[in-house]
Amino acid sequence: MSSLHTSLAAALVAWLFYLLVLTVYRLFFHPLARFPGPAYAAVSRWHEWYYDVYLGGKLIFWIEHLHKVYGPIVRITPDEVHILDADLWETLYTKAGRVDKYQYMSPRFGNENSVLTTAPDALHRIRRNALNPFFSRQRIVDLQTIIKGKLDILIRKVQTAKTNGQPIVISRGFQAFAEDVIMNYTFAHDYDSLNKQDWKPILHDSFQAVSISGNMALQFPWIPKILNALPKKWLAKIEPLYDLIFRMQAIKALKSGMSDERIAKAGHTTILSELLRGDLPAEELSNLRLQDEAQLIIGAGLATTGWTLSLGIYYILSNPNVLHTLRKELNDAIPEANLRSPSQHLDWTKLERLPYLMGCVREAVRLSYSTTSRNARIFKTPIQFGDWSIPAGTPISMTIPFLNHNEEIFPNSYAFVPERWIGNPKAPNGSSLERYFVGFGKGSRSCLGINLAQAELYLTFAAMIRYFDLELFDTDKTDVDMAHDFFLPFPKLDSKGIRVLVKDDKLYQ
Ligand code: HEM
Repeated sequence: MSSLHTSLAAALVAWLFYLLVLTVYRLFFHPLARFPGPAYAAVSRWHEWYYDVYLGGKLIFWIEHLHKVYGPIVRITPDEVHILDADLWETLYTKAGRVDKYQYMSPRFGNENSVLTTAPDALHRIRRNALNPFFSRQRIVDLQTIIKGKLDILIRKVQTAKTNGQPIVISRGFQAFAEDVIMNYTFAHDYDSLNKQDWKPILHDSFQAVSISGNMALQFPWIPKILNALPKKWLAKIEPLYDLIFRMQAIKALKSGMSDERIAKAGHTTILSELLRGDLPAEELSNLRLQDEAQLIIGAGLATTGWTLSLGIYYILSNPNVLHTLRKELNDAIPEANLRSPSQHLDWTKLERLPYLMGCVREAVRLSYSTTSRNARIFKTPIQFGDWSIPAGTPISMTIPFLNHNEEIFPNSYAFVPERWIGNPKAPNGSSLERYFVGFGKGSRSCLGINLAQAELYLTFAAMIRYFDLELFDTDKTDVDMAHDFFLPFPKLDSKGIRVLVKDDKLYQ
């Protein structure tokens, strides 16, 4: 045997020995060794690859199943536990104060330096503080004109579909709308996706591709690193959908989103111009950081809102009672309708006070699940859960859809019931139901864009139901039910989207 063969054999034996020792340690001596869960999950992460990469976003269903078998706390990977308990949510995400995220989760979209993917709390605080002012409630109220301008385009497109008599994929219209709004906010410029034929192709498609590949990037974090190092032209050839993201991230485009000229033309500052003028240290304004942050803000701004609108309109249109009650409330509240600028009669702050519309928005957010992948947090001190003391430093995760389907808190949880939110309702334990509304997350890592998202949801649902008579076309529950978790919820992959026929409009009344 040559010396090379001998060395290889020795390396193999050493590696197998290492695996054996690691397995014994993880099964019997690891701080989580006594926690419930299957042995294979305590030993390695390969099941995560199997469910999320091989089967395509199915780990969430596996976790759900494990809780049925093992109870409310389960060791789901060698170093992480997952918990199913509605009340612990507040303890972990709000009362525990400032906590770290789990670094392992950060590379999934190839933008580790964004506010969402920043694991250490101290750095997150700096990045988040720089963005907060731009998303304050007052700022969104002031910049409502951007949303309304885009909504008017959407309304005109839907009206054209009435004349054509052809069904439209309204979910694509919502995605294009959410995209144009957040692009404008961020860059004072957009790709005018609302005016594209059939709303194709749009940036949303590119972000969907990134979302789907994210489960793979989580398992093999070197993949996005290599891809990021390759020339963008090559990558655009391999996956043409990425091209729109690269165009948006190009430094020239980013910097022009901060230019005085563009701001003056648009009549409003942009997120990027605010970042530059803020007091962030120089390293926080590097090209890479800005690229990562822009990708996150655009992605977060378009995907969730577009999906919530799509799912919400499906449920409203498929429940005659809901549709009737909502339409009556809107007709009473908005007597005027004007073809030239329909959105001029809509005002977010007034719409928010309509109880039934509020209930519809809440239900749309609850059933659209926001982010479906588990939300892991790391604590500096041990966390007590029942008889279990979870060691400090352990990633502890919970999952939004599981709480949204807690039958004690949300009876008949799969049904769209706006009434459950009306009149300051209580949960069975006497707490306000609001406490369990976690659609926008809670605490220091909660949704930055909550005000923008709410403004878009209220204005768009109001416009669609007040001004149009829409009917679902060849669309059913399988087009909204979550079939895959790619960080965001995805229905069956061959869904054609939420399609509607525009039977009538009420814009001349
Ligand atoms: C219906 C619409 C939306 C829903 C349901 C939603 C939900 C959420 C949730 C649950 C989180 C926490 C994620 C986590 O813990 O990992 C989050 C974070 C975030 N969202 Fe939203 N979001 C929506 C719309 C928006 C919009 C329009 C923006 C605009 C830019 C936005 C920007 C962000 C950002 C930047 C974060 C990260 C915050 C941080 O880590 O400090 N979101 N969102």
